[in-house]
Amino acid sequence: MTRSPLFLSGPVLGIETSCDETSAAVVREGCILSNIIFSQADHGRYGGVVPELASRDHIRRILPVVDEALQRAGIGIAGLSGIAVTAGPGLVGSLLIGLCAAKSIAFAHGLPLVGIHHIEGHIFAAFLDERHPSPPFVALIVSGGHTDLISVPQIGLYRILGRTRDDAAGEAFDKVAKLLGLFRPGASAMGGPLISRLAEDGNPHAVRFPRGLIDADHFDFSFSGLKTAVLHHVRALDPDSLSRSAPDVAASFQAAVVDVLVAKTVRAAAFCGVQDVLVAGGVAANRVLRERMAKAAQERGLSLFIPPPVLCTDNAAMIAAAGSFRMGQGERSGLDLNAAPRLSLRDVA
Ligand code: KG4
Ligand code: ZN
Repeated sequence: MTRSPLFLSGPVLGIETSCDETSAAVVREGCILSNIIFSQADHGRYGGVVPELASRDHIRRILPVVDEALQRAGIGIAGLSGIAVTAGPGLVGSLLIGLCAAKSIAFAHGLPLVGIHHIEGHIFAAFLDERHPSPPFVALIVSGGHTDLISVPQIGLYRILGRTRDDAAGEAFDKVAKLLGLFRPGASAMGGPLISRLAEDGNPHAVRFPRGLIDADHFDFSFSGLKTAVLHHVRALDPDSLSRSAPDVAASFQAAVVDVLVAKTVRAAAFCGVQDVLVAGGVAANRVLRERMAKAAQERGLSLFIPPPVLCTDNAAMIAAAGSFRMGQGERSGLDLNAAPRLSLRDVA
């Protein structure tokens, strides 16, 4: 295995607890040795992530998940070169559990520690593959909390080209899943996979939902109008026709989101004059988005990079990779590292 100069030499433990996934991973110089992800199972009962329940579950799970990550990697704590942990943005109570665990282990074992911006983590998911984007590139990060178009002139430097003015794309998937009644007790509150499964049997041209800001001369997004349009459409249906047409509604909603994401991303690549485009974050696990992005990139001669679905949704391998990069640059956080629920990506640039 050749060592990439992008990363610190030696294995890094990553810890991610910003929302409802408890995850720990060991990554050595861009190679994943382990990536344990515990997805909390019962937020579906409440139709969305309940912050208090998420923190409690993180407390129960964090140490077993860290133990399992080390065991699978075949590495003891003494064999680590450092610890990386998500410091923000995210749910404050959830972030605090990961931070507490990371700081305690770092302090007890005298290991270097670095706090990571969650979105930088999503970008670094792409660097866990030998085929990765080369700066300058454009990144679309689409998750439950963010829809950001970012210009990356060099690794570790970020310029926000545009972001959502209201709901994030993943949030729109989650809200539409809720209004279609797709959430179930004992399941997660991740609406994207439920909508995309339902959409498989639907017609994406059945309902013409609005494509907010698609033709605007800037790179911001808006998904709340789309969500409201779906709400009005669903309210106008009686229960029978709703259950018959739910796949069409799901497919038409998904098509509207994908149209906007693809159009703005390829326009941003042209605006920045870049060859490489990265798409990451939970919504990048969406099959239709992946296919449509691939087609658009091919038509324009762009090189597209989308991590495998398991590295698109929240995971600690991406945090370990970002941490390995930051520590390789000589960055360290003190034990006063705190949760920063609204941390800006610029704060780490
Ligand atoms: O990155 P992520 O795991 O957590 C955040 O940082 O928010 O993203 C979660 C979001 C959720 O809104 C979820 O519904 C969405 O990503 N998502 C999807 C799919 N898988 C997850 N959206 C559309 N299609 C999917 N297959
Ligand atoms: Zn995320």
